[in-house]
Formats: sequence, C-alpha cells, structure tokens
Amino acid sequence: MKKKRTTNKGSEHMNVLIIGAGYVGLTTAAVIAKLGHTVHCVDENEQKIAALTRGDVPIYEPGLAELLTDHKSRLFFHRDGQKHIHEADVIFICVGTPPDNNGKSDVSYVNRAVAALLPHLHDQQTLVIKSTVPIGTNERIYERLTKEGKNVRVVSNPEFLREGSAIFDSLYPDRIVVGLRDDDDRSLSVMQTLYARIHAPYVVTSLSGAEMIKYAANAFLAMKISFINEMARLCEAYDVDVAHVAKGIGLDGRIGPHFLQAGIGYGGSCFPKDVAALQQMAYEKAVRPYMIEATKTINDTQFYWYVQKIKRTLGTLSDKRIAVLGIAFKPNTDDIRESPAVSLIKALHNLGAHVVAHDPKAVLPNGMDIKQTKTIDEALQQADAVIVATDWDAYKQLNWEQVRQTMSGNVVVDGRNSLPRNDIIQAGLTYVGVGRG
Ligand code: NAD
Ligand code: UGA
Repeated sequence: MKKKRTTNKGSEHMNVLIIGAGYVGLTTAAVIAKLGHTVHCVDENEQKIAALTRGDVPIYEPGLAELLTDHKSRLFFHRDGQKHIHEADVIFICVGTPPDNNGKSDVSYVNRAVAALLPHLHDQQTLVIKSTVPIGTNERIYERLTKEGKNVRVVSNPEFLREGSAIFDSLYPDRIVVGLRDDDDRSLSVMQTLYARIHAPYVVTSLSGAEMIKYAANAFLAMKISFINEMARLCEAYDVDVAHVAKGIGLDGRIGPHFLQAGIGYGGSCFPKDVAALQQMAYEKAVRPYMIEATKTINDTQFYWYVQKIKRTLGTLSDKRIAVLGIAFKPNTDDIRESPAVSLIKALHNLGAHVVAHDPKAVLPNGMDIKQTKTIDEALQQADAVIVATDWDAYKQLNWEQVRQTMSGNVVVDGRNSLPRNDIIQAGLTYVGVGRG
C-alpha cells in the first residue's frame, strides 16, 4: 500500500498538477506549494515556461515572485506535463475562458486541457475546475470522462482572488466554494486535505451551484460599482458629492463600504466578461436579466459620460497635452485587459488630444501611437491637464505643489475619486472628480 507522506507542516502531502500558468494558475501553484504540497505547473506558452524555469515571473503580482522563489524546491514548470499526469492526486484546470464575439464564455481552452489529460487519468484522481465556466460545464466534463470510462471525480472550485492582492486573497479567502456531484463522497475531504492550512468557511454545493456562485459574486460586485456610478451621474446633476453618499450608505452594515468607489467604470479580464456571459446564459433560458443588463449598460456608457465631462472642462481637446496616469485596469497589477484607462487614452487621442501616458508596471498595448513615459514627472511636463485613470498609490501621494509647477495648465481630473481633493485645490489646481458636485 502507498505510504502517506506528510508535509513539513504536518498535513497530508499531495502531488498537484496545475494546467495554466496565468494570474490564477501561477498564484494557485505558489500558494499550494507554500501549503507544503508538490506542484507541477503546465502552460502551453513556451516563453512563459522558459521564463518561469529561469526564475523570472512573467506577470506583476505583489508577493508572487517571492513566494515562487521561497518554495521553488516543490514547484516545477513544464511546457508539456504529460508524464506528470499519472502521479497527480489532484489536477487543477486554470486556463482562460475569454468571451467570444457574442459575449458567451469560450470554453475551448478548458475542453482542450481536458482532452489532453483524458488518456492519462486514473480512478484515484480528482479533477478540479478553477476556471470560471458557464453553468453546466463541470457536469459536461464529468459526463465526457465517464463516457470514456474514466471514473475520475470532478470538483468545481471557483476562484475569487483579486489581481493586486491575489496571494493574500488565496491564503485568507472569505470562503472556499466546493461544487460536487451528489454521489461524490470523497472529494470534499480531498479538498479539505489540500487546503488544510487555510482557514475559511466551506460552501458545499452542486457542480452547477458552484459555477453560479462565481458568476453571481462577480455580477453583484459589478452591480455595486454600476450603482454608485449611476449615483455619481445623479450627484453631478444635483451638485452633491458622491463620495459622501458612498460613505453615508456604506456605513449601513446591510450595504457595506466596499465596491462603492465611483469612477470611469470597471474593467479587467473578469467583470466585463462574466457579466456578459451571465447575461447570455439568462437569454439562453429565456430569462430577462434586468439587473445584469443595467449593470452592463451603465458600465458601457460611464466612460463616454466621463469623456464628455472632460471635454466640457477643457473646452476643445484638440492639441491639448494631456498626461494620463495609469494604464492598468486597476492598481498593483500590470494587467491591461479591458482597461478603462486604455480606452480613455484611445478616446482622447482620437479626439485630437496629444496624450502621454504613464504606469508604474503596465505597458501600453502594441500598435498605439502614444508616448509612454518612464517617470510621472516626464508625463506632467507642459501638460494642460492630468487625468488619473488608475488609482496607484504613487499618484495619490503626489506633491501637488510640484505638480502645478511642472504642468503648464491647472486641471487635475480624478477618474477614480481617489486623490486628496483639498490638497489639490490648495495647490492652486482645479479638481474634477466623478460626481463630486
Ligand atoms: P490567463 O490568461 O492569465 O492565463 C491562462 C493561461 O492558460 C495562459 O498562460 C495560457 O497560455 C494557458 N493555457 C490555455 N490553454 C491551455 C492548455 N490547454 N494547456 C496549458 N495551458 C493553457 O488567465 P487568468 O486570468 O489566470 O484566468 C484563468 C481563469 O480563471 C479564467 O476562467 C478566469 O475567468 C478565472 N479567474 C480569473 C481571475 C483573475 O483575477 N485573473 C480571478 C478569478 C477567476
Ligand atoms: C474581480 C473580483 O473582485 C474577484 O473576486 C474575482 O475573483 C475576479 O474579479 C475575477 O473573477 O477575475 P479583479 O478584476 O482582479 O477582481 O479586480 P477588482 O478589485 O474587483 O476591480 C475590478 C474593476 O472594478 C477595476 O477596474 C476597478 O478599478 C473597478 N472598481 C472596483 C471600481 O470602479 N470601483 C470600486 O469600488 C471597486
């Protein structure tokens, strides 16, 4: 009989295979290695694997590089993981599920990963789907495996990490959601063994239940942002400060203070895609998703509403030099997928402005005819206006007296309502927030 090993932290040791070394796969790999298990991580992107094997981390995520280095004795990266499939106790699928042209989630990467695993799977294994997949996908994967004579357990274990705080969110999650089939009496204890050193409440549900929880969580958070952005438009019309409204409602325990920061809209690789996918899933079942439609419509229009406001503030944009601070979709990441900052830069450029951009970590997409400066100061030189599009701490902590001296104009546009308004005004600059009266 195979003797059970323990991790050096005392819990049962497991061999884990992770398919996909992106934001979720890499974070999961690092965290599971920290928990004491052995991790083989596979990605079809050769450059990514070459970088990881050299010890370079292809994305910027605070704390990730350190964690990967600290646990490198238990972490292995492969372009082709075929020979490690058999020895794995648990296999995670963490590949992308991007939107297709109709807003539906494209599960072809997941299907391809399952197809590659299939011939090598055996009955002692647990296949865990961490990718965000449409309702019913996990059941279909289970049926596919069963049809091929594979008695592998399938678990849905959606991921709730945020980029920028991915390591913290993975080590200290608010909950661990585990979706199982009714007749599966083993997988919960497998997951509890794997995550033994993570203390969080478990929500145990069906495979489809877990999939729905993931979409509902993202849709709800996106809805909160769209709600406060709609309130920002109303506040602007009635000359009220939306930041006071957010504080005033957020202190009500039933509402909560989070995700009530008005701005130029939500972006990133998940909210826009998951809201659109849930909308499509509702239509497929002839359910009219009013709330989801409104969430998406507000977000889609928020950005244009704000560009109009910038135009009204600056008069014509033609030949104005505008420094846009922030390229990433949020601070503490280099991810520019669906970044409202990038859309803003494009829109201002198309309206004739002379845009220069800066970001501490993110890089403008290829093919954009925009200068990206190395320093904030360089971006501010001779600027008629500065727009903060991503709320990095470095921008919040600027010396506004110095900013005024560097710029040629005096307009500070706070696209994230995150700057110290009074300091900016005291420095003799004009402050333009989102719905701040
Ligand atoms: P990503 O694009 O950063 O990474 C996906 C990786 O999978 C890529 O490196 C790609 O090369 C690799 N890949 C694709 N198909 C493969 C295959 N068949 N075999 C091996 N490698 C393959 O994606 P991500 O942001 O990490 O997201 C992954 C999933 O997790 C998505 O479903 C997403 O919705 C979900 N999710 C993401 C986040 C997040 O913050 N990024 C949070 C929660 C959930
Ligand atoms: C989001 C969720 O918060 C995670 O729980 C989830 O796992 C993840 O999506 C996912 O499924 O991928 P993430 O996209 O990394 O995480 O970042 P958030 O902090 O949620 O921010 C998303 C967008 O909303 C950003 O553009 C941010 O600037 C914007 N936002 C956020 C606001 O405009 N206002 C707020 O109050 C909060």
